[in-house]
Amino acid sequence: MDGAPGGVWLYSLQRNSIRVPNNNNFPIDRSNRFVRRPPLVTPPGVGVQLAQRLVGQTQAIELVVPYVRMFQAGLAPEGRPAGVFLLLGPTGTGKTRTVEALAEVMHGSEKNVLRIDCGEFQMEHEVAKLIGAPPGYLGHRETQPMLTQQKVNAVASERSSLSIVLFDEIEKAASSLNRLLLGVLDKAALKLGDNSTVNFERTMIFMTSNLGAEAMMNALAGGYGFARGMAGGAAAENKLEAIGRAAVRRRFSPEFLNRIDAVVTYHPLGEDALRRILEHQLANLQRHITGRLGARAFRLDISEGARNWLIEKGTSQEFGARELKRVILRQLTQPLAALVASNRVPPGSLVHVTKRRGGEALSIQPLTPDQIRGVA
Ligand SMILES: Nc1ncnc2c1ncn2[C@@H]1O[C@H](COP(=O)(O)OP(=O)(O)O)[C@@H](O)[C@H]1O
Ligand SMILES: [Mg+2]
Repeated sequence: MDGAPGGVWLYSLQRNSIRVPNNNNFPIDRSNRFVRRPPLVTPPGVGVQLAQRLVGQTQAIELVVPYVRMFQAGLAPEGRPAGVFLLLGPTGTGKTRTVEALAEVMHGSEKNVLRIDCGEFQMEHEVAKLIGAPPGYLGHRETQPMLTQQKVNAVASERSSLSIVLFDEIEKAASSLNRLLLGVLDKAALKLGDNSTVNFERTMIFMTSNLGAEAMMNALAGGYGFARGMAGGAAAENKLEAIGRAAVRRRFSPEFLNRIDAVVTYHPLGEDALRRILEHQLANLQRHITGRLGARAFRLDISEGARNWLIEKGTSQEFGARELKRVILRQLTQPLAALVASNRVPPGSLVHVTKRRGGEALSIQPLTPDQIRGVA
């Protein structure tokens, strides 16, 4: 019998189990053996599940999770959104990923996000696309508003009634979008062109922005050296947060900022974090190959040298983990796809990926099942 921690001895739940007198007071079943209750399978908490998807950035998880819990407990305040967050920091550090990860955890899919790409609303008149034109106005019929109650509800699911709305890269939007948002953040209500109202009470609102990101990177380059992979410690973190807060104060009015529950500053990702993101991406790629190719699937075997090479190529101050994703796509996924498309990866192969000596690319060598048997 294994004595794994957390195990609980108790009466067998099998139907044929009976209680037999025994001196130790231990429950036993008919076979006269102690039985062990299977551990209660409670899914890990939201925070743990988020941390499995978002590397580093624990401060973001710690700030968001209490609001999720309040919502789940039915204790979120009425008359306002269930949470309003402003996510700041350099490009490719996981701001948008956080929101997708929360959707995965809450609803099972990162697609359960109503995403407003603020880059589409740079001109004042474009903001009407969000709420639709009033009746009688030109284009009233053609313009389906982007923010309807139906669309907000559609991103909730059977698992949870929480709708996640993302205003991505909010610094790009015209200022009328901020005014419009003010009402949403304050009263959880948005009046549409046709006079109907969208309710945002069962909604968490995320805004992302790279406001202050450039100044943050400059500050880090000037001595707060954790962009290069070391934990910069509290000093660097405080410095980044101060820069973020100052940039935000310059851009948004105090009443706007007062309606935000938490401003979170994302840190540049160090080498450790990039390595973990690489492992996520490679696991995703393998899942994809196994799931999508069905009978034609194959296995990847990626050497340590190839991994190091991808990290080296994929490290970028400017683009964060986005650069790593691009490098994986160009140097691994696309060459693999070319091999598959020309039938050079027989089903069941083991594909060895190694670093080419001195080369500027990876070496990708499929071993057929016959060859694998020959090797073994
Ligand atoms: N902290 C992170 N944890 C896991 N993946 C990340 C992280 N940061 C970036 N990535 C990866 O890089 C991609 C781009 O990150 P994203 O969240 O879109 O950056 P941004 O901060 O600019 O919004 C993501 O899709 C994800 O694959
Ligand atoms: Mg983003």
